[in-house]
Amino acid sequence: MHRRDFMKTPLIAAGSIMIGKAGLVSGLLGSSGMARAAFAAQKAGVPRIALNNGMSIPQLGLGTWQLAENTVTSVRAAIEAGYRLFDTAQIYGNEKEVWQGIKQSGIARKDVFITSKIWTSSMRNPPQKDSIDKSIELLGGEYIDLFMIHWPAKGRIQETWEVMEEYVQKGLIKSIGFSNFNPHHIEALLKYAKIKPVVNQIEIHPYHTQEANVAATRNYGIAVESWSPLAQGKVLNDAAIIGIAKKYNKSAAQTIIRWHIQRGLIVIPRSKNPAHIAENIKVFDFELSKDDMAAIAKLNRNERIMPAADPDSFSW
Ligand SMILES: NC(=O)c1ccc[n+]([C@@H]2O[C@H](COP(=O)([O-])OP(=O)(O)OC[C@H]3O[C@@H](n4cnc5c(N)ncnc54)[C@H](OP(=O)(O)O)[C@@H]3O)[C@@H](O)[C@H]2O)c1
Repeated sequence: MHRRDFMKTPLIAAGSIMIGKAGLVSGLLGSSGMARAAFAAQKAGVPRIALNNGMSIPQLGLGTWQLAENTVTSVRAAIEAGYRLFDTAQIYGNEKEVWQGIKQSGIARKDVFITSKIWTSSMRNPPQKDSIDKSIELLGGEYIDLFMIHWPAKGRIQETWEVMEEYVQKGLIKSIGFSNFNPHHIEALLKYAKIKPVVNQIEIHPYHTQEANVAATRNYGIAVESWSPLAQGKVLNDAAIIGIAKKYNKSAAQTIIRWHIQRGLIVIPRSKNPAHIAENIKVFDFELSKDDMAAIAKLNRNERIMPAADPDSFSW
């Protein structure tokens, strides 16, 4: 199949998927740098997932947890490689550095999609708005594209959601969603939500495939995003994955990322290595067969990276 035909192929998705336009870049990169970054975005051909509020999100982005002092350089490398989605959180302590990387790249604000999340301690210590104001300020001071409840902290979800809705009304947050929600958390929130959540970001990788939660979340019209999509590297040495990767002349990481993409999931692999960053976005020029998709799904062990990271019993 030619690449162009392949890019037109509809994928399994929560919403519809659109082929992204190249981001326009301006400013600090200089004309050759800008041209390179614009070309990279076009070439990467990252589709967009339509959200239930009329907006859309790039289907692939950069995770930034634990990037720490490598955050600025990794974000810059990612923008050069064609990434336009960046996932951070208050607890990662790098919202400022994510913004620095974006700013230093010279890309226009409208051409990147920034997601962040309110941490449980900010939820439990009202006013929640203080930490949200800080996130907005650290992330450039204008707006956040998607802001999520990081974990369903008991007793504080409704209060936090209502504050987040106020920020949408003020135009300081474009979309709101949550992370680590099980279907019962979603159902409870939908009873009072005036603004519909757009995304549920949950742990998904070949050892924790989450079919039931993905299906239930989509039934509510909410898109699903995979966190720790590479199981923090644990699945990269799996013999079955290496075998499948060889057939397509791709790396194990690319094969797993492609598996998420074909499931219609939004996927945010993290890397501080520029070669890995570039490699991880080259996943739109091949297609895993149905059998190989199923073979990867069969690796499921319902195994969380951290057993304590269970949305129904976490302690943080
Ligand atoms: N909502 C939540 O509760 C939650 C929880 C966890 C994570 N997240 C989000 O999800 C993102 C991704 O998850 P994650 O950071 O836990 O881990 P991950 O993306 O599953 O895996 C990251 C690891 O894979 C390695 N890696 C990446 N690309 C590679 C490649 N091509 N070849 C070989 N190794 C490669 C990285 O090493 P190198 O740096 O050396 O490439 C790193 O050690 C996070 O950064 C964060 O944004 C959200």
